[in-house]
Amino acid sequence: MMESRRRLFATEKMGGRTVYWFQAVTMAVGILLVLYYRAAHAPAAGQGRAAWVGMLAAELCYAVYWVITQSVRWCPIRRRTFKDRLAARYEENLPGVDTFVCTADPHSEPPSLVISTILSIMAYNYPSEKISVYLSDDGGSIFTFYALWEASIFAKKWLPFCKRYNIEPRSPAAYFLESEGHHNQFTPKEWSLIKNLYEEMRERIDTAVMSGKIPEEIKLKHKGFDEWNSEITSKNHQPIVQILIDGKSRNAVDDDGNVLPTLVYMAREKRPQYHHNFKAGALNALIRVSSVISDSPVILNVDCDMYSNNSDSIRDALCFFLDEEMGHNIGFVQYPQNYNNMTQNNIYGNSLNVINHVEISGLDSAGGSLYIGTGCFHRREILCGLKFSKGYKEDWSRRIKERGQENINEIEEKAKSLATCNYELRTQWGDEIGVKYGYPVEDIITGLAIHCRCWKSVYMNPERPAFLGVAPSTLAQTLLQHKRWSEGNFTIFLSKYCTFLFGHGKISLQLQMGYCIYGLWAANSLPTLYYVMVPSLGLVKGNPLFPEIMSPWAIPFIYVFCMKNTYGLYEALLSGDTLKGWWNGQRMWMIKRITSYLYGLIDTIRKLLGVSKMSFAVTAKVSDDDEAKRYEQEILEFGSSSPEYVIIATVALLNFICLVGGLSKIMTGVWNMPWNVFLLQFILCGMIVIANIPIYEAMFLRKDKGRVPSSVTLASVGFVVLVFLVPIV
Ligand SMILES: *[C@@H]1O[C@H](CO)[C@@H](O)[C@H](O)[C@H]1NC(C)=O
Ligand SMILES: *[C@@H]1O[C@H](CO)[C@@H](O)[C@H](O)[C@H]1NC(C)=O
Repeated sequence: MMESRRRLFATEKMGGRTVYWFQAVTMAVGILLVLYYRAAHAPAAGQGRAAWVGMLAAELCYAVYWVITQSVRWCPIRRRTFKDRLAARYEENLPGVDTFVCTADPHSEPPSLVISTILSIMAYNYPSEKISVYLSDDGGSIFTFYALWEASIFAKKWLPFCKRYNIEPRSPAAYFLESEGHHNQFTPKEWSLIKNLYEEMRERIDTAVMSGKIPEEIKLKHKGFDEWNSEITSKNHQPIVQILIDGKSRNAVDDDGNVLPTLVYMAREKRPQYHHNFKAGALNALIRVSSVISDSPVILNVDCDMYSNNSDSIRDALCFFLDEEMGHNIGFVQYPQNYNNMTQNNIYGNSLNVINHVEISGLDSAGGSLYIGTGCFHRREILCGLKFSKGYKEDWSRRIKERGQENINEIEEKAKSLATCNYELRTQWGDEIGVKYGYPVEDIITGLAIHCRCWKSVYMNPERPAFLGVAPSTLAQTLLQHKRWSEGNFTIFLSKYCTFLFGHGKISLQLQMGYCIYGLWAANSLPTLYYVMVPSLGLVKGNPLFPEIMSPWAIPFIYVFCMKNTYGLYEALLSGDTLKGWWNGQRMWMIKRITSYLYGLIDTIRKLLGVSKMSFAVTAKVSDDDEAKRYEQEILEFGSSSPEYVIIATVALLNFICLVGGLSKIMTGVWNMPWNVFLLQFILCGMIVIANIPIYEAMFLRKDKGRVPSSVTLASVGFVVLVFLVPIV
């Protein structure tokens, strides 16, 4: 009896509250003093008043945003699970889990990568008969189908191998890469055998993709290949559903005679005249298709490049759902987005460490983590629109879907009818049911809708990362990713789903603010652009914009600046960044704000005004060997010319010239003002220059292919000249 009352998970408050409150209170005072000074000491009209008012506006924006970011820092929490208790109480009655993996394009997401993810999920430490894996292929590619078919055969060897030796990670690609060269007495004796099988399979798949042909004799081995003919294109084809492994049938066993997980391939119908709603559309089709095949009460959703690095993740997630006291109102369990190919001081600042360790943990304390579209366990009913009601309890002991007399072909036909283009017409799908349509970040808004139906969510950030994806490894990819995120979240902020309106009265104010941390990323771009240009220009134009260094008013400015950065550094170091990584992050902080977020802002507003979408996006290139090497050496990658790089180069150059120009003017006493009037401006400009050193190197010193192209350098010189000619400040 005692046992059954023990919780399946624990929630712990994170430490460091004294430090936090000290910084929060003193920062708040400092910010108020800064704003007061700005408002009270504006110069007379004509003597740089416009620039001053601009500074006030920028600082006001920063202040508001700072308050918003505090919402998640009040009381961050950490979750811990007790898998042993889960096993003791529920081992016989564990619920089924359907995993959804979405892929869209066999060229940018190679099928051999996709099946590594799938194999890692099939090999979870969980009863196989309760796992079903669904791959949605929006590319409608026979090669992806072929790869999945190969995986279904390899699984018969791979799963017993994983379980016999309890290996980690269970993605064959990652496992063999990691264990290569680290042989010892624990290395399984079949290691080379399985590795060879795996390599051969990968080679067959890659050859097929490369040559664009699948050998005829293979096509005879599965009826699914008949679905493809020469007329099928990725944008125009019938619905395809193929059950590659039917976990219910008696011959679906691995080489040790154990049941295999169910494995299903789906390419929903595509017709040019129907809008397909991207990934959200694919997920909704998967929800329906899976409902006639396995209909598990728990759904895991992972990106096709995010393999499982921890075979116990399902059990961790179930500790939340099945908890007797708190489980009934938990809608989803979100894991952080981790990457497997981070360099030590991640030059592009995309480790997401602070977001993962501080911000989302804080959101969790406010009512729930965001749904970030990957690494997330949902409860099917809730994803399908169920509203929370008091006293609601899910019946976990509900039997695994019993199958009547239907045979596998009938089930496939039924599933196909659920994946057609017109199935969703005049239904609530994409609105009240399933993942929402019409927004670039469908995941965030779907999570928000679930929160607003009064469900909670939890954030699980285990010591050993649960899912590992591929981080962007060039500047262009990083900027593109952040443009998409900032644009998507800003679109939500300006829509009827703005958390302050939509969430009012349904979720806590703290959570409403928490969502806005990302919603306002794009809006941050303008104050930042202003702050990195105007004060520096003021140096050469003799326009002081900060209090002189001896004045007591300088103290709040210096304090706020130092405290913000010191506390930021403290958070970054605690979250696992290195000092240099933090510094790189500061540079990227600026670069992202003046490019990605600015573009995100402009595109959102243009869409809002109904102006056709600009072709602003940089295209992500396929990385070559040189690029990969530079990524590992942590050298910034430019290479191609794009308008974003012009902005980055212009700001860097402008600050350099302002620093030098300002210094010489002050030295020669051009203005009748003491130098200390300009000292704070100097320090700011100097910091920007120091942060930009790698940019200058890329513009003027480097010779490799990843340097800033001369066309970009020239354009930036042109813009800098223009800025000096136009008397804006
Ligand atoms: C993946 O998990 C292993 C433990 O199995 C851990 O040592 C490793 O650090 C994890 N990988 C990453 C990239 O965090
Ligand atoms: C990261 O992943 C990309 C894409 O798979 C690859 O090209 C790159 O070499 C990887 N980098 C590292 C450091 O592992």
